[in-house]
Amino acid sequence: MGFYGDHVLPRCVNLACASKIAHEQRARVCAGLAGEVVEIGFGSGHNVAHYPRAVTSVSAVEPADVAWELAAKRVRATATPVRRAGLDGQSLPFEDDRFDAALSTWTMCTIPDLRAALAELRRVLKPGGELHFVEHGLAPDGKVQHWQHRLNPIQQRVFGGCHLDRPIVDSIRAAGFEVREVDEYYERLSPKFLGANALGVAVSP
Ligand SMILES: C[S@@+](CC[C@H](N)C(=O)[O-])C[C@H]1O[C@@H](n2cnc3c(N)ncnc32)[C@H](O)[C@@H]1O
Repeated sequence: MGFYGDHVLPRCVNLACASKIAHEQRARVCAGLAGEVVEIGFGSGHNVAHYPRAVTSVSAVEPADVAWELAAKRVRATATPVRRAGLDGQSLPFEDDRFDAALSTWTMCTIPDLRAALAELRRVLKPGGELHFVEHGLAPDGKVQHWQHRLNPIQQRVFGGCHLDRPIVDSIRAAGFEVREVDEYYERLSPKFLGANALGVAVSP
């Protein structure tokens, strides 16, 4: 990826993802997780502090070495066993039906082939397994969508392939998940083109 993508971007993401508002959403999305969990786009481990006690292990999937290094302190501080178990959400190195739950926070915008990643999550989740997600994506309002489409090329270049205008909830449904609950809202203090969030739980049938 080069110096910017390998070293600068993960540090910027680490800072950008540390806000109080983000942590409020992390607490909500992690609630109810239990058993063996796979977390795609683990980043620098900002969700670790929010894992419920019922989580017995977390298999972290994260391509960026620097992000994983930045996560070390958080991983050491939790009683939940967390290991870096994979590098790419599009191709998970796990057997079928392995996990009780999956977690993705602001990652589905960035994975190049989202359809492949969602198919992989379906494959590795047990029947009835839950996907907990909070993601930004295509806004409900036409005017905001217009700006999302216009700004998308810049966003992708500056933020390591991040798409502003992916229809995340539709993509989750198209992958065969049943969306059991979803809250769609504009994030406080964020520009609408960037903060059209969907937070919810989908079930792999
Ligand atoms: C905006 S960051 C979010 C990080 C973290 N989930 C959080 O909430 O702080 C997106 C993350 O997706 C990761 N990512 C990019 N491509 C990926 C892929 N193919 N598979 C898994 N993760 C990927 C990036 O390295 C980055 O850590």
